[in-house]
Amino acid sequence: MTTYEAVQERLTIRPRTWLVTGIAGFIGSNLLETLLNLDQRVVGLDNFSLGKPGNLAQVKGAVTDSRWKNFRFIRGDIRSLDTCRQACRSVDFVLHQAALGSVPRSISDPIATHENNVTGFLNMLSLRTAPACCALSTPGRAQPTVTAPGS
Ligand SMILES: NC(=O)c1ccc[n+]([C@@H]2O[C@H](COP(=O)([O-])OP(=O)(O)OC[C@H]3O[C@@H](n4cnc5c(N)ncnc54)[C@H](O)[C@@H]3O)[C@@H](O)[C@H]2O)c1
Repeated sequence: MTTYEAVQERLTIRPRTWLVTGIAGFIGSNLLETLLNLDQRVVGLDNFSLGKPGNLAQVKGAVTDSRWKNFRFIRGDIRSLDTCRQACRSVDFVLHQAALGSVPRSISDPIATHENNVTGFLNMLSLRTAPACCALSTPGRAQPTVTAPGS
């Protein structure tokens, strides 16, 4: 059994609650489908600045109704600390994927890129100390790191 298969088995036996920021984007919506198919509970946060409701609709069509019921969507912005706090409530893991991509955009509008990618990320990091919210992965990493609660 591979490590990935062992982790999948553990999660299926003991489902967790995951916050995925940027859930309506490419990576976020693929994470959503994978997690729901592992019978996990998912809270998704997105402001639809780049993501599409259609990505979520596609996942809805790809999973069973009972698994879809394990998904709760928050339309909100990671630039708001209050929104981040609300989204982090009662979750076991955070997979942080919300960001504004594109180097050309960062040159043409550096303020917006900074607010979304730096301030937003800092908001999520600052909540990492909340007891129920103790794992974070970083956009842009090939292998997102997810640590177990308490480790
Ligand atoms: N797709 C890839 O191949 C790839 C490769 C390496 C790194 N990355 C990085 O991973 C991250 C996710 O990539 P992706 O392809 O899913 O991008 P994406 O643009 O498809 O998704 C990003 C999501 O974040 C949301 N978002 C942006 N700002 C937000 C904010 N302030 N509040 C809430 N939601 C917000 C957008 O609406 C969008 O749904 C990005 O940082 C990207 O640069 C992606």
